[in-house]
Amino acid sequence: MVSKESKTQAVINLCQRRGFVFPAGDLYGSFAGFFDYGPLGVELKRNVQASWWNRFVLGREDMLGLDGAVLTHPRIWKASGHVDAFNDPLVQCKKCKHRFRADHLIEEELKESVDGISEEKLNAFLSEHKLVCPDCKGALSEAKNFNLMFKTSVGATEDNYAYLRPETAQVIFTNFKYLHQIGRKQLPFGIAQAGRSFRNEISPRNFVFRGREFEQMEIEFFVHPDKLDDCPDFDAVSKRKALFCTEKHQKDGEDGQKMTFGDAIKKKIVQTKWHAYWLAEALDWFASLGLTKLRLRQHRSDELSHYAKETWDVEYDYPEWGWKELMGIANRTDFDLKQHSKESGKELAVFDESTKQKVVPHVIEPSFGLDRLLFTLLLDAFTEKKGKDDSGKEETKVLLKLHESIAPVPLAVFPLMKKDGLAEKAWEIYVKLKKQNPAIVYDESGSIGKRYARMDEAGTPKCVTVDHQTLQDGTVTIRDRDSGEQKRVKSDSIKT
Ligand code: GLY
Repeated sequence: MVSKESKTQAVINLCQRRGFVFPAGDLYGSFAGFFDYGPLGVELKRNVQASWWNRFVLGREDMLGLDGAVLTHPRIWKASGHVDAFNDPLVQCKKCKHRFRADHLIEEELKESVDGISEEKLNAFLSEHKLVCPDCKGALSEAKNFNLMFKTSVGATEDNYAYLRPETAQVIFTNFKYLHQIGRKQLPFGIAQAGRSFRNEISPRNFVFRGREFEQMEIEFFVHPDKLDDCPDFDAVSKRKALFCTEKHQKDGEDGQKMTFGDAIKKKIVQTKWHAYWLAEALDWFASLGLTKLRLRQHRSDELSHYAKETWDVEYDYPEWGWKELMGIANRTDFDLKQHSKESGKELAVFDESTKQKVVPHVIEPSFGLDRLLFTLLLDAFTEKKGKDDSGKEETKVLLKLHESIAPVPLAVFPLMKKDGLAEKAWEIYVKLKKQNPAIVYDESGSIGKRYARMDEAGTPKCVTVDHQTLQDGTVTIRDRDSGEQKRVKSDSIKT
């Protein structure tokens, strides 16, 4: 980093300054945990989501798409266990009444991860270490479970209540049997959904990393319960390598061990091939977006969610925060389908052609969080370099080295200057190129140096400049964001 602020803060500042993403509803003051995406952010979001959808839904023969309701029947969440178990531990200061998430407080004060441990153990920890309110040093209450679901009423009576879904997954489970019937898919197959979820976080923090409203992209992949190791696609990924951080590595304070997915299965580090396959696929997709500083971390037995038998997080090595979850891939077994079957009184088993059996499938769930992925992509792409402004003064320039497949603006067209017919020519070229890709932009305001700098900061991979030579021979310069190099090409040879 060239500048003094932390890289994380520099990216947050860039997000707000250039309107990628910023706190929601600022006009009326702070509304913590909610964010609005501006013009650059919304395009980045759409591009990443489209990449995910194209690869994992349209690009596969074994996947069905779904876009379910956000407001959901309360019995869904009774059945799923969220009413009883989707809680975070809350402590309140007896003096200033500020509220904190107990496990985060312990992590911050004692630098020890206690994610997912029981309420009883947390309280033992709090009193053993005599933790007090970080704001006023007052005494803290005991930790109590706080349910994270947002509740609202439906229709003209307050008795009819509903929850804003805290995960998109349950909307897939409740539609599973119907989609199996109409989708003409045999086991194994998946259902994918991208959409908003809501969690009433006690203390939203780390910018969009832990918001109260966020976008999920989830797949529930349904497999015959006896066939979790019968994964024809596993061979194609078995030689890929990843850094695996097992429960033991965590106890020993180690980052993990690099090995192939084939070895991870042989050594029973990952229990089933379908699970290992989805871990490998997720890493491969991240790599296609340029993200490689990743590892796979096994959930400790004391942090597993109430529905999971085995979970691995894909973690990114953040500059200030260290390894943190980018997404999770859980083996949810038949927990959810059986719970919904019990609660609804309806059978959710399906006929499996290959074994001629009626089975309740098991589920591997790759669950991606789009907002934290976008922030991670921006952080990873953020690069500073020393340069000169138009007057020759030294300045720090920012480049966003976003992968060109997701850059919000794929290409910009400039006239070198507005006069001599250059603006008209540049506009003509812009209009032609915009037919190829509507996301390209035209800019004629300010010096050419300022325009390049604006585009570098927005992550635009290529800028096309029209100059006097263009009027003679139809060539333009095309400038590469990362190297700053310019080449002369025929304007009609440009593809975007
Ligand atoms: N469906 C898993 C999660 O939302 O964390």
